[in-house]
Amino acid sequence: MKIIRKSSCRPEPHACVVIPVFKGMDLAGLWREFPALEFPARQKQMKGKIGEALVCHSLQEQRLFLLVGAGGAGSLPDARQWACRAMALLRENRVGKAWIYFTAPGPFPPDYLRTLVDHLHLNNYRFERYRKKKQKAVERIFLAAKAAAAFAGDARRTGAFRKRLALDATELRAREAVLEEVERVRDLVNEIPARVTPDSMAAAFAESARCHGLGLETWRRQQLEENGLNGLLAVGASSCCEPALLVLTYQPASFRRSVALVGKGITFDAGGLNLKPGNSMEEMKSDMAGAAAVLGVMNAVARLKLPVRVTALAPLAENLPGRRAYKPGDIITFANGKTVEIANTDAEGRLILADALIVAARRKPEMIIELSTLTGAIVTALGDSYAGLFCRNRRLCSGLLQAAETSGEFLWEMPLPPEYRESIVSKVADLKNANYNGGSSIKAGLFLSEFAGKAPFAHIDIAGTAFLSKPNSRLAAEGATGFGVRLLVQFLQDLAK
Ligand code: BES
Ligand code: MN
Ligand code: ZN
Repeated sequence: MKIIRKSSCRPEPHACVVIPVFKGMDLAGLWREFPALEFPARQKQMKGKIGEALVCHSLQEQRLFLLVGAGGAGSLPDARQWACRAMALLRENRVGKAWIYFTAPGPFPPDYLRTLVDHLHLNNYRFERYRKKKQKAVERIFLAAKAAAAFAGDARRTGAFRKRLALDATELRAREAVLEEVERVRDLVNEIPARVTPDSMAAAFAESARCHGLGLETWRRQQLEENGLNGLLAVGASSCCEPALLVLTYQPASFRRSVALVGKGITFDAGGLNLKPGNSMEEMKSDMAGAAAVLGVMNAVARLKLPVRVTALAPLAENLPGRRAYKPGDIITFANGKTVEIANTDAEGRLILADALIVAARRKPEMIIELSTLTGAIVTALGDSYAGLFCRNRRLCSGLLQAAETSGEFLWEMPLPPEYRESIVSKVADLKNANYNGGSSIKAGLFLSEFAGKAPFAHIDIAGTAFLSKPNSRLAAEGATGFGVRLLVQFLQDLAK
């Protein structure tokens, strides 16, 4: 979808016009401009509240109008919701091309418009690769604002007019690039598990490396063995597709900051010998959402040419039961010398992540940020709107929380109390991977911290946010969300400033 800024609203005949109705907006002015809308809007008692919507086929004007309750004119949460509603209505009405016409004086600051643009894109997405009948997607949206003259007489507002749709074409293109990468990530996570394996992920990383001139290392069995990456080798042992560690590097000509990203890449999590019960296995193709997200971040960072060195590490394996499967009671020795007793083969994520974190830490980045669909408990704690943030470094933590607010990919900080460490200690090894008795998201975070070395480290548990079992009020489509891409791109953009 292309979103294009127009300096005035002259929609061609028959084109659909979407009008956000803000709280406290001068509706009389709107009725003067579009008399046909007054009666139906009055009947619906439209006041600009989120959730209000009016679909009006006007014979007089020969076009479809959508009036959408848009809440507060500067409110980012409201922008996310009305964009979601507007796109759902456009798709339901099979509109290919629409104008969004701002008749309120605003001002609409860049943050507001960026949020709006993001959510227009996000809500145009559907995963329909396996459907014969595909829904018509929106192809083009024109953003237009009422002419300055209309607000004349109010000097303050007239002065602010130029800034009302303050989002220039370059910024729009940049957002489009990021959202394209979000879409690619969603496709990858939604793709069926028969087609997503460590091999196919290696191919996807290679494609990115080729497209964007990134460095790529692909470690398969031999390198994994040589480097003692025994978490990956154990978890991946039962699969017919061997595990891998992929390392993608983006190094601009000049940079002052360097960041390592790590993303969990379990291409299917059956639980291993501790097999998951039927319905909790259903969404486990999405257990590689962390790896897909860091890939998306790399593509976006390269396209935006950010002056930050970024290394993305993705440990990849399939967690299945089978003749060669690793077993409860096994003890794994990691490359940093620590030993881990396997209490439950379904706590596999932290094992492959431990390997990747050791490799990441050896490269001495300034900080390590890791994304994983790690625990069911974070879904219980935070639901599908907030990912859990676990980080002991205050600066890194506040940078991430700031990026979360700006991007709308929300984080909630969780504690990493040292006194909980005793519950991850094993009687027969240094650590155990499960049977922690309560606080399992936190203790998983503590477990990971044991492998991240000394650099500032953030663990983000995206088990609740990466894959939706039903649409929410900001995302009309269920399934993969691409969570983490917009968040981390924002974080890296802020870091580059
Ligand atoms: N991939 C799952 C976590 C998960 C659950 C992701 C629900 C998305 C939705 C992870 O590998 C897992 O199985 N975790 C277990 C750990 C337990 C056995 C200690 C869990 O959280 O139940
Ligand atoms: Mn698991
Ligand atoms: Zn898992």
